[in-house]
Amino acid sequence: MDWGMANRLNRMIDPQTGKIVMLAVDHGYFLGPTSGLERLGATIEPLLDHADALMLTRGALRRWVDPARRVPVMLRMSGGTSIVSNDNGASALSNESLAVSIDDALRLNASGITCSIFVGTEHERQTLENLTDLIDAGQHYGLPVMAVTAVGREMVRDLRYLGLCTRIAAELGAHIVKTYYCEGFEKLIEATPVPVVIAGGKKIPEREALELAHRAISAGAAGVDMGRNIFQSRAPVAMIRAVRAIVHQGAGVDDAWSLVAGELE
Ligand code: 5RP
Repeated sequence: MDWGMANRLNRMIDPQTGKIVMLAVDHGYFLGPTSGLERLGATIEPLLDHADALMLTRGALRRWVDPARRVPVMLRMSGGTSIVSNDNGASALSNESLAVSIDDALRLNASGITCSIFVGTEHERQTLENLTDLIDAGQHYGLPVMAVTAVGREMVRDLRYLGLCTRIAAELGAHIVKTYYCEGFEKLIEATPVPVVIAGGKKIPEREALELAHRAISAGAAGVDMGRNIFQSRAPVAMIRAVRAIVHQGAGVDDAWSLVAGELE
């Protein structure tokens, strides 16, 4: 691996622990003004000191992140569809294209670039091509690529499906893969030869979100790329600190929860 690529990965994945806590706030690229992100800048400001990387769109980055902040950026490169996209009555969410040029990603000083893949959907091939185009461009400039295994409504979030997606993404050359936690996650980790991070998914009670992070880390995940379970919590700073304790310090759920419980009263 060349120096620039290795350096960018090491800026995001802590070389001391081999782990990462990424804060995902890219939801607006297809969901619009997601609850908690209406004033994205104010929401993330207290969280940035606790994030190893920030996943967001270029529009949000330009508008809401002070360039003096030293947080590494994982730039969302795919887009072009929305929650109300419609293809003869069926969801067309998977019909994504690449929406940012590699030049602009470099101009924005991204540490990593990312796109979604929609395996098993009508647009599987197109989204896998988006990924390989990004990987080739990333190879040229030393920019690592994270593949996001998006799950269509018709897909089941089980080991068979998610394991298929993460292995394909890694085989195609992704440097990091983001997916969902599932039963048997350690098998997915064994068969995916790059670091795997989990999304948090919809907001759930704080202790359950910590349990989810703990199960993923215990099964061998390299970390989390969590959004709603942090920024939609009533105690977002306590939540990200608790998640950090699990990811970087190997804290148990009770210890992590003790950082949050008092803040929710
Ligand atoms: C959507 C994404 C989002 O960043 C991710 O799912 C958000 O994280 P969370 O589910 O934890 O809110 O990649 O495709």
